[in-house]
Amino acid sequence: MLAIDGMVTAYGSVEVLHSVSLAAKAGEITCVMGRNGVGKTTLLRSIMGQLRTKAGSVRLKDQDLSRAPAHLRARAGIALVPQGREIFPKLTVRENLEIAFSARGSIDQAAVEAGMTMFPILKEFAKRNGGDLSGGQQQQLAIARALVGKPSVLLLDEPTEGIQPNIIEEIGRVLQRLAGEGMAIVLVEQYLEFVKAIGHRFAIMDRGAIVAEGGTDGLTPEVVGKWLSV
Ligand SMILES: Nc1ncnc2c1ncn2[C@@H]1O[C@H](COP(=O)(O)OP(=O)(O)OP(=O)(O)O)[C@@H](O)[C@H]1O
Ligand SMILES: [Mg+2]
Repeated sequence: MLAIDGMVTAYGSVEVLHSVSLAAKAGEITCVMGRNGVGKTTLLRSIMGQLRTKAGSVRLKDQDLSRAPAHLRARAGIALVPQGREIFPKLTVRENLEIAFSARGSIDQAAVEAGMTMFPILKEFAKRNGGDLSGGQQQQLAIARALVGKPSVLLLDEPTEGIQPNIIEEIGRVLQRLAGEGMAIVLVEQYLEFVKAIGHRFAIMDRGAIVAEGGTDGLTPEVVGKWLSV
């Protein structure tokens, strides 16, 4: 579904991704792990086209998106749930979902409704301001917002960060269902138990490179100890 090959990204003259290759299959949750600052967010933003890459390719099915700007990648079916959620605090829950259509001219109300049905609390709080939701509810809103455009590839950047366990479980169930329906999911995550519970494949990054990968049953104490323990 999604294939990244030889991706190189730099901030100014400082290279942060050194030829990263990663594949995400439809129907699978591919987990990208790694300690703080190794380049996980840079990778997702490079895939989304929010950062300019110096080398490498991004392909979605048979489309080459390597040079496509972010809005065309979104239109091709890639969506990103950013780290820190980045919802609009002064807009209502419904408006936060509707804004996903701001570049398209007309709002698909059925998709907005579907987004709110995915996490029932959003429907209940449709008229509340995003900023008045709990951190976990804001994360659910950010996920719903990414889904209203009906992506085929969903990128999530540490969705469990600072969130209460019952909402993590609910998010996990939704991601499993989406994968079950054929979506390709790339989950950047530092919470090991969440990865083990819902992930199919893992890739561990260290200092801008992938250093280990495989099925999540390969996340042995040795692998975890070497690359993930702090
Ligand atoms: N806008 C930026 N300008 C310059 N350097 C940056 C910028 N954003 C990130 N970096 C650097 O690039 C490296 C990778 O950062 P990145 O945010 O991708 O890591 P991460 O794995 O997502 O970390 P975390 O787990 O803390 O979210 C770090 O050394 C970071 O300091
Ligand atoms: Mg990050």
